[in-house]
Amino acid sequence: MDAGLETVVAAETVMSDVQGAEGRLIIRGVDVEQLARDFSYEQTAAHLWGGYFEQMPGDLSSMLGAARVVAFDRMTGDFARLAALPETEALRVALSLAPDGHDLGSAIDLVATMAVATGAIARLKAGQAPVAPEAGASHAADLLRMIRGDKPNEADARALEAYLVTVCDHGLNASTFVARCVASTRAGLGSAVIAGLSALKGPLHGGAPGPVLDMLDGIGSADNAETWIREALDRGERLMGFGHRVYRTRDPRADVLKRVVGGLPASHGRLALAQAIEGRILQRLAAEKPDRKLDTNVEYYTAILLEAVGAPRGLFTCLFACGRVTGWIAHAREQLSTGRLVRPASVYVGPVSALAA
Ligand code: COA
Repeated sequence: MDAGLETVVAAETVMSDVQGAEGRLIIRGVDVEQLARDFSYEQTAAHLWGGYFEQMPGDLSSMLGAARVVAFDRMTGDFARLAALPETEALRVALSLAPDGHDLGSAIDLVATMAVATGAIARLKAGQAPVAPEAGASHAADLLRMIRGDKPNEADARALEAYLVTVCDHGLNASTFVARCVASTRAGLGSAVIAGLSALKGPLHGGAPGPVLDMLDGIGSADNAETWIREALDRGERLMGFGHRVYRTRDPRADVLKRVVGGLPASHGRLALAQAIEGRILQRLAAEKPDRKLDTNVEYYTAILLEAVGAPRGLFTCLFACGRVTGWIAHAREQLSTGRLVRPASVYVGPVSALAA
């Protein structure tokens, strides 16, 4: 048995190749560094989905903009309910109102709903009225405007876009795997996406970046780092933003995001502290776990980036989902076209004839 399924190959995919030993990530033939630099979020969706939907336009911008408006209108009657729930639960509720079809319209609706709901949840949590989307804006700029309530500058909007693109897909991680399992039953894309989000919210997967900031706040200054890290490890805690199931070297997405953050003036104090603390943590982890190469993962600089563009930390997992949703949909469509119903075996270790005695 392989409890973590590390050695099990459960899908053939054209979507992404996570090269753990080399620290390289290829997304449908394009290195993540190039994708983050050159692709808009709309182009990334078209890149991942090409060939998996009938009659897909080359530019998804106008469909996506119109779908954000529809999603907002559908949600307005439920704002009070969304406001009462924790962020990721509210996002699940909003997604459950979206259609559960298999076509391009359903896919676009889900991407739009994810962003509009994330914006509305941010505003509701801050005790403010949600801001309606602008159909003509880019997806990333509109998402940031709906979160902050004002039009973001070009650099902030582009930084958020680079983040969304960077995390769009990443092999057969837990949330993508469950999305494919659901898709394999022929349930709709909405069901696959809700399953993906439910897996993503866990602290070992997409729930880490909020706690990264809590950790940096807890450490406070580089001088406190040694003691704080030692005490946390002595308590058996994991240091958020470090370690990875596949990478045995640095997660290439960490460097992509670090570079993007470096271009945002608002992040500079935090970035300098984060870099100083990162060095201390890596030294300590190398000393504590010499047999297990633990390095910086994507969540560490995600936290710094999302804070710098003005996103509240309770929203970080929702924003991860706003990026990853295109990947879940791509995998669901690929599973439908090339995969089989997922049905692994298990080994029974319970009693035999327990009632007979
Ligand atoms: N801090 C401290 N110790 C860590 C660690 C971390 N971030 N990540 C792994 N370890 C330790 C484990 O405690 C374990 O030690 P042990 O063998 O003495 O029990 C050892 O390293 C191996 O860990 P393992 O459970 O095999 O790693 P994994 O592949 O199952 O876990 C993660 C991968 C990502 C879940 C794990 O590294 C982690 O919890 N990281 C923190 C959360 C995080 O950043 N998540 C975002 C992932 S992108």
